Amino acid sequence: MATLLDLTWCFWSSIYTFIALTLPVSVSAIDSAWNGHTVPGSTTPAPFTPFFVPPGAKAYDSSSPLILYTGQWSTVFSSKYFHKTLQSTSKANSTISFKFTGTGIEWFGNCDKHHGISLVFIDGLRQNSVDAYCNRDIPLKQQRIFWDFDLPYGDHTIKIINTAKRPGSVKPTLCDIDAFVVTRGDPNSQTPFSSPEGVASSLLETQTLASNTASKWTLVQKGTTGVHAMQLAIISSSHAIIVDKVEHNPLTISGHPAWAALYNLHTHAVKPLAMQSNSFCAGGSFLGNGTLINVGGNPVVDGRTSSADFGDVDGLQAIRIFEPCDSESSDHCEFYEHHSRLRMASPRWYNTVVRINDGSAMIIGGSKKGGWINNATVNNPTIEYFPPKGIHGSNGLPIHLPFLVDTLNSNLFPIAFALPDGRIFMAANRDAMIYDWKNNQERRLPQIPNSIRVTYPMTGTGLLLPLSPENDYQPEILLCGGSNIPDDKASYDISSQDPASSQCSRLILTEAGIATGWQVELMPQARMMPDAVLLPTGEVLIINGAGSGISGYGNVRDQVGSSNADHPVLTPVLYNPLATTGQRFSSAGLPTSRIPRLYHSVATLTPSGDIMVTGSNPNLDRSEIKYGTEYRVEWFSPPYMKMDRPEITGKISKLKFKEEVKVKVKVPGGFRDQFKVALMDLGFVTHAVHANTRLVYLKCSMAGDTLSITGPPSGDIYPPGPGWIYFLVDGVPSKGVKVMIGNGDSPPVDKNALEKYDHI
Ligand SMILES: *[C@@H]1O[C@H](CO)[C@@H](O)[C@H](O)[C@H]1NC(C)=O
Ligand SMILES: *[C@@H]1O[C@H](CO)[C@@H](O)[C@H](O)[C@H]1NC(C)=O
Ligand SMILES: *[C@@H]1O[C@H](CO)[C@@H](O)[C@H](O)[C@H]1NC(C)=O
Repeated sequence: MATLLDLTWCFWSSIYTFIALTLPVSVSAIDSAWNGHTVPGSTTPAPFTPFFVPPGAKAYDSSSPLILYTGQWSTVFSSKYFHKTLQSTSKANSTISFKFTGTGIEWFGNCDKHHGISLVFIDGLRQNSVDAYCNRDIPLKQQRIFWDFDLPYGDHTIKIINTAKRPGSVKPTLCDIDAFVVTRGDPNSQTPFSSPEGVASSLLETQTLASNTASKWTLVQKGTTGVHAMQLAIISSSHAIIVDKVEHNPLTISGHPAWAALYNLHTHAVKPLAMQSNSFCAGGSFLGNGTLINVGGNPVVDGRTSSADFGDVDGLQAIRIFEPCDSESSDHCEFYEHHSRLRMASPRWYNTVVRINDGSAMIIGGSKKGGWINNATVNNPTIEYFPPKGIHGSNGLPIHLPFLVDTLNSNLFPIAFALPDGRIFMAANRDAMIYDWKNNQERRLPQIPNSIRVTYPMTGTGLLLPLSPENDYQPEILLCGGSNIPDDKASYDISSQDPASSQCSRLILTEAGIATGWQVELMPQARMMPDAVLLPTGEVLIINGAGSGISGYGNVRDQVGSSNADHPVLTPVLYNPLATTGQRFSSAGLPTSRIPRLYHSVATLTPSGDIMVTGSNPNLDRSEIKYGTEYRVEWFSPPYMKMDRPEITGKISKLKFKEEVKVKVKVPGGFRDQFKVALMDLGFVTHAVHANTRLVYLKCSMAGDTLSITGPPSGDIYPPGPGWIYFLVDGVPSKGVKVMIGNGDSPPVDKNALEKYDHI
């Protein structure tokens, strides 16, 4: 039926902007951030092999009487093996059997060309067969051959049977074992949310009594990241990228633990990525041409580690390039690093990266070396651009920002957003300003009320609330959480039990708004290091974080394990910026997690519209004691995920500024009177900083099943680069479609600045 029923102009509800940025990471004051060279507390460099016994886990040597062998096994001796022994067989049907209590099991042994396939059974259930082959003549030792961290807490038995076979191998292949490592786990921290309907929380039940299933939020734990997710960004409809520091993650690459990975959002498979430099506390952003940059990080620590086996590169000035990777296979998607030619002009640990209106990246602040809270000695109170710009006499060198001096000490991982007039909002510590990058001018804003600090290690989060043509893209900032602990207090005067702040502060960035000042409201629960996830509906999910303490690990009094924070906040709260004051927060129907998400945890909206939550690692290296290193992923699904959703059925992959594009859509039957198109940047998330997160409502109209969308007015409103388009009908969003906003060109290159820069 082709009658044009609707010519409804998309209706904009009010506009709000959220802030989602955040904070930093900390490194113990005593132990420098570990690069994998030296075991903490030791001065002897150790090889960076996958074998590792995290605190809270237990290793069983292959010679343990608790491990039972059948068939023919021989003992191999070497100082490179755990307890100097390894058991090896080439006979088919030789078996290993081991009973353990806990939640996880890892099998370590050698890999080389002579190894083959074994069958692994857990509690009598056949797992995937395991291939210990690797393309090496000389065996790689202490490799993780098999792991499973997903077992329910309790008694389990692992059985391994050597098949002595491998396709292409004529001789019987080898199977060996150096050690088992058992993760004991916390009997109480098991997530009960194994299925969407398996939610047993009484809170949840009472709050959804009267509703049908469609109005329920659900929580499912599914998938593990393999690499701890300190940094997270959605790169395509099928993949998220995960970046960590150098540590003993279970996922390996080239015979050592990986510290970056791709996570398949559909299959939950993880693929390790090679990275040369230490990306501990790097920042990141997409550029105008869709390429992701990941910049800064940690040095290779101290002379004591220089002779180690694991040769990572100083990451402090690193620029790691990840070209667009949209294929479902993710084949050939790799980081590119070239440290002698491609690097920042100054070292930055805990920087924030913002994409600006010409599609290039502004790299803000940070400290010149890894440490803990910032101070004048290590502060890097500058910005620089990538690609470098020769503006304000800088010749591509860093440009001084007095704001980053005045906001010491708690000013790392500044919260920053590109504003709809092309300038940049920044919040650091208790202060805020607007930076006019073209004229190199700061405009200071009123101080955040009640002495609340919002940046590392007094970490809050921030968002630019949704921008809408309805009120001419009036920008408004939201800051939530943090702490009022003085930032000149000594670490031993701060406790993990000091209460966090429950304050959210909003400021409209117009003359009138600034004159009115920050509007304060209180979250139902205080949060240190919250994540604020902007939804296509314009609401904000505030999730993760701690009720007390501060960011980082190994610094303050009353540490829990090494965590500087305690009292994990396990139930998210939904914030509706358009509701009247006093009615904006609600946890009704929101599921409660059992997994603490403290320092180094992340959350992001996905293309399908649910919220991916993972990470938490207030530890120097992987740990299994409270609060341990979290690899489990949780998926929070808003009620709309189960509703009859609209769909963008036509093809749309590019949208120029002001351009009108028509695309076929499917609108669910029933009442419909409100159409909207939300253009979203899902951001680059780390340390509660959701850099570049953005929602811009686009002008649109409907005619039959054709939706006309008009691109954003300019790069000021939406900096050119990748975005996601969600089509909403009566508040129910479709899945997001990835669209390149602008012309997809690479950001401008200033030849002059580049040449100077090359001679640094
Ligand atoms: C190993 O076991 C399989 C299955 O029971 C059997 O078919 C095979 O002959 C056995 N091989 C050896 C070498 O014992
Ligand atoms: C400044 O911070 C660095 C890095 O954490 C630390 O080594 C140094 O001692 C601090 N300096 C002062 C004066 O506090
Ligand atoms: C995007 O621009 C950056 C900076 O010039 C460049 O390194 C990268 O290769 C470009 N990517 C594409 C896909 O053109």
